[in-house]
Amino acid sequence: MPQTLRQVEHPVLADRLTVLRDRETPHRAFRQALFEASAIMAVEVARELPVREVEIETPLEATRGVRVRDEVAVVPVLRAGLGMVEGFLRLLPDARVGHVGIYRDEEEHVPVGYYERLPPGLPKARVYVLDPMLATGGSAVHALEHLKRAGARQLELVCLVAAPQGIEAVQDAHPEVPIWTAAVDRELDENAYIRPGLGDAGDRVFGTV
Ligand code: PRP
Ligand code: URA
Repeated sequence: MPQTLRQVEHPVLADRLTVLRDRETPHRAFRQALFEASAIMAVEVARELPVREVEIETPLEATRGVRVRDEVAVVPVLRAGLGMVEGFLRLLPDARVGHVGIYRDEEEHVPVGYYERLPPGLPKARVYVLDPMLATGGSAVHALEHLKRAGARQLELVCLVAAPQGIEAVQDAHPEVPIWTAAVDRELDENAYIRPGLGDAGDRVFGTV
């Protein structure tokens, strides 16, 4: 099994995850906690970004520094992934944003794609696919396939709550793609919901419960 799983440990991230899990958290506070958790994930994920050396002049003298080398694209999986975009853009404001619309069929839990709008430059960009929930893995596998077909080469999946089945599905289909998560939960239930999980992330972000 490829070792692509990267679980982020941070006390503030753990705090926000607890807010997200709490059934009493209303949509406004849920959205805020999702933004804050995503901002922490962005810092951790971006730690691995390659840099290039540059020469600059300070007001006093010449010196050397570094700049982030590659273009960055963030691609939220609609809908819940939208709640992670702002946290990433705070750290990476030059990033381009693509959108992939996928929902899970309620009976079979298989992914159904309904929208795709991707930025140019994907073959050379670092591409972060954002979706707080990795359950069966169907949606993530589908999104990664589409991005590869569109030319993306340096893909990373960023979620917050992952089930063992989803991790395995992504590792089987895309063994080279790092999977970042804040938590690996126990299991999926008979409706393919993550347990303990946080419920339906899209509904909770947008108040459509
Ligand atoms: C949720 C979630 C993921 C997907 C995960 O989206 O945001 O995209 O389910 O499940 P999977 O790993 O089994 O594919 P959902 O289908 O509920 O769509 P929504 O965000 O529009 O509500
Ligand atoms: N999608 C969600 O939003 N939550 C789950 O637990 C599983 C899939």
